[in-house]
Amino acid sequence: MKVVTVLGARPQFIKAGTVSRELAKQKESGKNVDEVIVHTGQHYDANMSDIFFEEMKIPKPDYMLGVGCRTHGAMTGQMLEKIENVLVEEKPDVVMVYGDTNSTLAGALAASKLHIPIAHVEAGLRSFNMNMPEEVNRILTDRVSKWLFCPTETAVKNLHSESVENWKNDAEVHNVGDVMLDGALFYKDLAVKPNNVPDGAFILCTIHRAENTDSKERMTNIIGALNEIAHDQNVVLPLHPRTRKIIAEYGLGLDEVKVIDPVGYLNMVWLVSNCDKVMTDSGGLQKEAYFFSKPCITLRDETEWVELVSAGANKLVGANRNSIVSSINGIGSYRCSSHGLYGDGSAAEKIITCIGGRCR
Ligand code: UD1
Ligand code: UDP
Repeated sequence: MKVVTVLGARPQFIKAGTVSRELAKQKESGKNVDEVIVHTGQHYDANMSDIFFEEMKIPKPDYMLGVGCRTHGAMTGQMLEKIENVLVEEKPDVVMVYGDTNSTLAGALAASKLHIPIAHVEAGLRSFNMNMPEEVNRILTDRVSKWLFCPTETAVKNLHSESVENWKNDAEVHNVGDVMLDGALFYKDLAVKPNNVPDGAFILCTIHRAENTDSKERMTNIIGALNEIAHDQNVVLPLHPRTRKIIAEYGLGLDEVKVIDPVGYLNMVWLVSNCDKVMTDSGGLQKEAYFFSKPCITLRDETEWVELVSAGANKLVGANRNSIVSSINGIGSYRCSSHGLYGDGSAAEKIITCIGGRCR
């Protein structure tokens, strides 16, 4: 079985790294599996890309498409054309795509037009906000996939409420759990403290979501809240390059916040497992806060990970300055009424069992 993996953005390296390790394990045990990795180039800085391949021992990509830093249409279109060339050349049995980025959609569209079966890891998630580029990407990717690998029961329900059974006669929906849990469990004992983090208690923060960065009003509120909070608490902010650029463009300043460059996954696992609280607009980090039992507030108006909110592990606070400050200060200790929301840490193994035709 030949699998072409299409990836390009930071969270995809982390998710695919886990599946890639499982594919390599199966190959070593004599199974007939080969992985060909296609890196679209969506993320390209060393600390947004190379570091994850090195740390997670992901095989070097077989194809580097170099399609980063463009408008959505140009990026997706150029990726589509280049991925199609690769698929025509490689003739895989399966194309694997992850999550909801432009790289996900381009990989899925290219495969779909060549009638190659698609495995979508992280299928069925919905924010119900069609203004998000990710919502469009994930709905279209789900629609053309054969294997819809859901991380949660909510995701399965979302697909059924959209009548997935009527989409394609070969579509299969499986709740395999979340590959990010597999990764967190595997790497938790390998975590490394970043050099430039202050001693003592700290709040971990990340911000990059377009709905925040594209709005001067929301960014002004968020940065204002961060400065207020950082006045008497340590706030560590590994800053996404998109956010760094936009903060400068809006003329905003991060006074006492400890801003660091984006870190690799081993540093990030240390940060989330050693912080006191998390504030973020990241999808992945909301779940990692739960994996490491850290209270989390989410700087968005909605989330795809609704089970965290229902269980009391996460609070949606949007981008209002006063709500952010009062929520982070009032958050108290971690509480959560549900366990095992994201499976048992064997998502990658289940995925490969399914695409190998051995699903139960
Ligand atoms: C993308 C995904 C988003 C995901 C995020 C993970 C889409 C539509 N969005 O958003 O769902 O949560 O990745 O981090 O696919 N940049 C650099 N260096 C890099 C990468 C980006 O400088 O290595 C800067 C460039 O100015 C670029 C901007 O960040 O234009 C935005 O990058 P892009 O990949 O378009 O979107 P993200 O915000 O990273
Ligand atoms: N992450 C990282 N270094 C950082 C910031 C985030 O390794 O400096 C990890 C984070 O722990 C999570 C993943 O990147 O595993 C989430 O990616 P991101 O927030 O970029 O995207 P999203 O999940 O929102 O799509």
